[in-house]
Order: sequence, then C-alpha cells, then structure tokens
Amino acid sequence: MNVGCRATYELDEAILSCPSCGELLDIRYDWSGLEIPPSLSFFSSRVQSFDRQTVTARLNNSGVWRYRELLPFAREDDLITLGEGRTHLQQADNLAAQIGQRPGCLFLQYEGFNPSGSFKDNGMAAAFTMARLLGRRRVACASTGNTSASLALYAAHTNTKSGEPMQAVVLVGNEKIAAGKLAQALDFGAKTLQVRGDFDACMRLIVESAGRLGLYVVNSVNPFRLEGQKTIMYRVLEGLNWEVPDWIVVPGGNLGNCSAFGKAFLELAELGLIDRMPRLAVINADGADTLHELFVERGLRYHGGRWDRAMVESYYRDMKAAGRKAHTVASAIEIAQPVNLPKALRSLEAMDGVVRRVSDEAILDGKALVGRYGFGCEPASGATIAGLQLLLQQQVISPGDRVVCILTGHALKDPSATIDYHRPLQPEDARGRYSNRPVSVSADFEAICRALGD
Ligand code: F0G
Repeated sequence: MNVGCRATYELDEAILSCPSCGELLDIRYDWSGLEIPPSLSFFSSRVQSFDRQTVTARLNNSGVWRYRELLPFAREDDLITLGEGRTHLQQADNLAAQIGQRPGCLFLQYEGFNPSGSFKDNGMAAAFTMARLLGRRRVACASTGNTSASLALYAAHTNTKSGEPMQAVVLVGNEKIAAGKLAQALDFGAKTLQVRGDFDACMRLIVESAGRLGLYVVNSVNPFRLEGQKTIMYRVLEGLNWEVPDWIVVPGGNLGNCSAFGKAFLELAELGLIDRMPRLAVINADGADTLHELFVERGLRYHGGRWDRAMVESYYRDMKAAGRKAHTVASAIEIAQPVNLPKALRSLEAMDGVVRRVSDEAILDGKALVGRYGFGCEPASGATIAGLQLLLQQQVISPGDRVVCILTGHALKDPSATIDYHRPLQPEDARGRYSNRPVSVSADFEAICRALGD
C-alpha cells in the first residue's frame, strides 16, 4: 500500500514506488485470517521457550524466519535463509557504568554477528525471497558498503527458480567505502561499479536505471527489506523476555531501520501482542543530518501521512543550490537524501521519537567504548552510544530507563577507522578519549618490564 495516497497493489506487481504519485510502498497484510498460533503466544503469556516441531530446523535457525507468521508474504518452501539474525541482546553493565546508566538498564543488540557482518542480512533474506518468487535474476543496489556486501553474499548463494545463478550489481561511491565492505563485494563476486560520486548519486542512478536494465533493487526502497528488518525488534523483545523496553536507539542513514522498527511495533500493537510502545531515538551524524534538520530544526512531522512535502522539496533544492554533500567519518550513514524519510517520520510519530545529531569525535569515542566494553562495532553504530550519552546529559533519557542500542555493523568492517583512532600516524592526532596506543619496545626483556611498569 502507498504510504501517501493509500493506493493498493497486488504482491506480484514488481514495483517499488506508486505509479500514480511516486511515493514508496508499504506492505499491508490482511490479519483477519490470522489465528495467533501457539508459537506467538509468548507475547501475551510471557512464556520463555517455544517449540515448533512442525517446521524445519533451517527456518527456525534463522532469526528472521522464526517469526515468519509476522511477515507472511511467502510460503515456507520459498523462504531464503543463510542463517541471518542469530544475534542476541547483550546486557552491558560495564558500558552502562561508564556513561552513567544504572546496572541492568543498558542493552546492546549487536547485528555484526550476521553472515555478512551487518543488520542488512535480515532484510536481504526477505528481499531475495521476493526476488526469486518474482523470477528476477539481476539484483542490484546502491550502497555505502554494507548493503553491497550483503547483496553480494545472498546473490552468491541463491539461484533463480529455473536454477540459474543470480547476478549481483552494486554501485558504490568511489571515495568513502570502508575496506572491509568493498572487500566483501569483490570477494563474493558482485559486479562492483565504483561510481565517481557519493551515495546519493548512486541511489538516484540505481532507481533511474532499474527499469531499463531489468534490475531488482534491494535497497531499503524495497519494502520487503524492511519486513526482514522488523525481526531485529522481535529479537530485542525476546531478549527482554517479551517486555517492551523504554527506548530503542538507532543510527539514521537512509532511515530503513528506524522505519522497519516503527512498523514492527505498530503491527505488534495492532495484533494485541504488546500493550505499550517503546520510544525511539534516531541518531544522525553532524555531517549527514537531514532528518535532524527537518524534524528538530524545522518541525517536520508525519501528521498521519499529511507531512509537508513542500518543506522537504525546498530543503533539497537549497541543498543542491549550495552544493552541500554529506560528510562524516561514519561512512555507512553518509547520506544527504534518505529515501525512507516518510516512513521514518511515521515511526517517530508512533514511537514518540526524538532525533539527535552527534559529532564525528563523539561517534568515534562511542565506538571505542563499545570496543572496550561490548563486542566492538563500526563507526555508524558508535553513534548510538554518542546519542545515548547526549540524551542522558539532556535528561531526556534517565539513568534508570531500559535502553537498547542497535549496533548495526561489525567492528572489522572499517579497520582503518579503528586503527586511526588508537594509533594515529602523528601522535598529536591522538585526540580520542579512549585511545589505546600501542607501545613500541625493543626486543629485550628489560624493555618489556619497563613498558609494563614492573
Ligand atoms: N549502520 C550501518 C553499519 C549501515 O551500513 C547503515 C546503512 C546504517 C547504519 C544506516 O541504516 O540506512 O537503515 O538508516 N547502510 C546502507 C548501505 C546505506 O548502503 O550499506 P539506515
């Protein structure tokens, strides 16, 4: 269904935006036929374990498809999985102590444990299921890196219905893509086009050329991607024994994740499986702060779908005229024109959300704290900790609120950001509050003793 004009289309119409008004589409289910199966009864009864003898172990092993009744757009036999979403909520008391939160109140949802090392795999399992159902062969995206890595991995492991291998085409900006991500796209065999331009240019190109080149686009403009990403929230709830937390904190780039999260909670509420909504905090980088600018500075709101399109258009016009581009050390979220803006506004409305922006320094310090006290993460994910620190300082979040920070990508995705932080080429560049500088020693016992202070 269209978010704006509410036109509806059938599942097998392979369209990404509304032919009549151009807005992005949303998946709507007819829930009237759904009998809540015993496997979902945990939402109301708080039963911890659930047993599904009737379905295959393969699907139950996927952190996406074990909730398949909540994204029921395909039959079980058609679901594609590479074992994505086997991620767990981690209680982070040591990190909480560092930033002034009470024990038992901070949780990290580390999506770096996915097969390609980022949350994108949740969405890709769903998008590839649909690509295959539609008989599509050429699967494509624009990317700041992680989407391309995930797409390349799923394409390498998926055949079309008629048994041909899928073809992966990825467009990445030529300047900022992190080494780990580019390495994955190349290694998994994707046709990798390094476009002389930024992510926003790649995104425009991919949408414009999809029709003519027969590309099935699996960026988050594809609503099935967001269906898969809803399950991150189901796992968070599962980790909290089906209790709704007070806050979900997530970095904002193209705004797919926060859009999916809002949809997940809206549907759970509609189904009567939860009795309250958590609040949402979306964190922009200072240098890629379109959502912050529109939502906080200019007061843009969803208003039940009647958001001010003219305000957004004029903002983008001014941006173009001034030649403004996004710039941040968190290359994953270096995006100036987020395609999911309307859906993100919907999530912010539904979840009484806030938006904040944080500096590159704060992002890198946040990332270092996750490295030291969590499992590590890439810079974009560090924005969640920086955002949480800011919201604690502003007393928007209290030390006793139960907060879940979504860590979107693996620490090894962007090793140079980590090395530059801990071991800068010039010692005077070592500005990180948590830098852990290596110590150079000569190859003898005395030197080691001196270095250890023994
Ligand atoms: N964190 C990481 C590690 C990402 O790779 C991305 C987006 C985001 C956060 C932002 O999520 O777009 O849902 O708001 N990466 C995309 C890509 C754009 O191409 O890999 P979002």
